[in-house]
Amino acid sequence: MSNKEKEIVRKDRRSFLSVLPLGVLGVVGASLTIAAKRSLEPHTVAAADEGWKSLGDVAEIAGEEPIEKTIAVTCRSGWSKTVEDVSVYVLPKHDNKVLSSVCPHEGCPIVWDADSKNFLCPCHDSFFSDEGQRLTGPAAKDLTEYETRVENGKLQIKV
Ligand code: FES
Repeated sequence: MSNKEKEIVRKDRRSFLSVLPLGVLGVVGASLTIAAKRSLEPHTVAAADEGWKSLGDVAEIAGEEPIEKTIAVTCRSGWSKTVEDVSVYVLPKHDNKVLSSVCPHEGCPIVWDADSKNFLCPCHDSFFSDEGQRLTGPAAKDLTEYETRVENGKLQIKV
């Protein structure tokens, strides 16, 4: 190999080594961008759990008071998937309407107040009627109502 050819090989090696750190930085930057995007994604019910969830035999749902039921749903937040118990209220007095137990203000769990016959949020004192309509407090919306159906004698909600 002539001296001129050796010099060309050295220059190619130097130019490759000078570009290598940029390539490594590019890969690290892309990985961090993907991780940041995933961690900022909203907490959602995973696709695997989207569908209908049973709340039990419709024949056993009766009475004047809301009935609290718990369902397990898979939630996804960033990289992680977790199974969480979610409470809902079935309203036998109102044609088995089903309400979320999450306050639309800042997400605290609401409770049924048997004395006033209303739902209330203990965090900032929002009150909702026995059908979930907003009455007072900082919550700007009614309680969320689930889509329901009866399938093979079971009351189901769409999650
Ligand atoms: S979270 Fe319910 S009133 Fe604020």
